[in-house]
Amino acid sequence: MKKVKVARHSELELSELILGFWRLKSLEANEVIHLINHALSLGISSIDEADIYGNYQSQTYLGRALKEQPSLRDKIQIISKGGIVLSGSRFSKSGIGFYDTTEKHLMQSVEQCLSDLQTDYLDLFLIHRPDVLMDPQVIDSAFKKLKQQGKVLHFGVSNFTPSQFDLLCSQMETPLVTNQIEWSVLHHQPVYDGSLDSALKHGIRPMIWSPLGGGQLFTGNSPKQIEVRKVMQDISEELGGIALDQLALAWILKHPAKALPVIGTLKTERISSAAKAFDVNMNNEQWYRLLIASQGAPMP
Ligand SMILES: NC(=O)c1ccc[n+]([C@@H]2O[C@H](COP(=O)([O-])OP(=O)(O)OC[C@H]3O[C@@H](n4cnc5c(N)ncnc54)[C@H](OP(=O)(O)O)[C@@H]3O)[C@@H](O)[C@H]2O)c1
Repeated sequence: MKKVKVARHSELELSELILGFWRLKSLEANEVIHLINHALSLGISSIDEADIYGNYQSQTYLGRALKEQPSLRDKIQIISKGGIVLSGSRFSKSGIGFYDTTEKHLMQSVEQCLSDLQTDYLDLFLIHRPDVLMDPQVIDSAFKKLKQQGKVLHFGVSNFTPSQFDLLCSQMETPLVTNQIEWSVLHHQPVYDGSLDSALKHGIRPMIWSPLGGGQLFTGNSPKQIEVRKVMQDISEELGGIALDQLALAWILKHPAKALPVIGTLKTERISSAAKAFDVNMNNEQWYRLLIASQGAPMP
């Protein structure tokens, strides 16, 4: 697997498959180092984090690993996010959870990331969710300061609608290199809601969270999940018995948006399996059979 340019207007390169640490709870530093080295051996060098993951703890586990083995830092790209305040956190005076993209909070969030991760820069920082009160010029000002201070190299957003993405791009000088969105055979909405068109229009590769439906693809028991799994099993057999995780990722990879899936497993054998998704060659009819199973209706 190779590293690829994330946006036509940026030099940032990430691996084509990204390892997400949302589910990282408590691992010893040596276990995190082992996990990262395994991913690196497959060419997976980019790691997705957020200030709030694991109730503000996930980044500290990665940080301890980086402290234990500082040479890892230059081999990986760290993506993190800010802009969400969790209920009960020190950022919430009243105790409610809310979104905050004020300059003060974004700067605080990056400081928190750097301190937890025990590093002095982030490769990519994303606004985690669209804040109803966000002011593009305030965000741009914060991003410019963070870039000038060398604390963040590149910027993007997550869970933005196409019109929110357009708005920010039209008002900001700082280029946005990605929009991280949810997409899978169990959540096909980006195919129709303009998110993938928007990525192609802006020349960015979207990052994709929960590309395996957060595991529901394998264990979900709703009628839709059962039907999608059945169609996947049929297509898997036609393709020589490939694993379902590979098929689900290949479904995303086939789209011209050239998306970058963020996988959430922390099991080395499952990471190895996911990396084989690039070898899957499904045809257009098989791709549509999965879309039709997901939407529960034939094409019009
Ligand atoms: N921007 C956002 O708002 C946002 C939101 C959510 C997540 N994210 C990012 O996206 C990343 C991925 O999300 P995700 O964890 O939901 O992704 P995912 O890859 O769709 O789901 C991971 C889950 O699937 C299970 N799984 C994977 N392979 C399996 C297999 N072959 N058989 C059975 N179960 C399997 C894993 O279990 P095991 O762990 O037991 O293998 C894990 O529970 C997160 O880590 C985070 O970085 C971003």
